[in-house]
Amino acid sequence: MLIRSLRLTWGVLGLLLSGCVVSAQSTPVRIMSLGDSITGSPGCWRALLWRKLQTAGITNTKFVGSLPSPGCGFTYDGANEGHGGIQATGIVQRRELPGNKGPTEILAAFGTMVDWMRESKKDMKILVAQIIPINPANCRQCGDRVVALNKAIPAWTASKNSTDSPITVVDCWTGFDTARDTGDGVHPNNAGNEKIANCWFEPLRRAIQG
Ligand SMILES: *[C@@H]1O[C@H](CO)[C@@H](O)[C@H](O)[C@H]1NC(C)=O
Repeated sequence: MLIRSLRLTWGVLGLLLSGCVVSAQSTPVRIMSLGDSITGSPGCWRALLWRKLQTAGITNTKFVGSLPSPGCGFTYDGANEGHGGIQATGIVQRRELPGNKGPTEILAAFGTMVDWMRESKKDMKILVAQIIPINPANCRQCGDRVVALNKAIPAWTASKNSTDSPITVVDCWTGFDTARDTGDGVHPNNAGNEKIANCWFEPLRRAIQG
């Protein structure tokens, strides 16, 4: 099963992915977090999310990916694919494109990646985030681009949905405040990490146990 979320880069608009691949049939359930720096470096919301799963008694998980867990104050299962600055359009075209892509192009790239993921595992579950707001000092338009992307996600998700490989939209936008929950307008601080862990927990729990 695959769980992913989207991220926008700052500066130029880009799209980052963050997500988790989980394999429902196998034990443990494999989960891949796929995304950019908000996902990966340090991405301590993943540590908090892992701890919430443990606390809830959900221990049949294995987080997978080529990147190690950065220090988040305690030991956790933190393998991931959170690559700083990564863009969906760049992945699809095998190179990083300049940013400033609109939701249509970004989601088309996401669609291609969903097809690839289903080729690797036809019944993977996919969780896509409506991403946290951003307000970087060097990109005043980026906030509106996130709004536009998040708005386009439900229809795109429904169009790519399937019974074998269901897609769930995860709302990480609501309640997140760039002034309170980030240090730089983009990357979550401790309060922001808590909010991101919270937005993922229930959808992830359902995906693992469902
Ligand atoms: C995708 O389909 C599943 C049922 O297979 C449904 O529960 C889910 O809400 C659908 N997701 C979207 C985004 O339409």
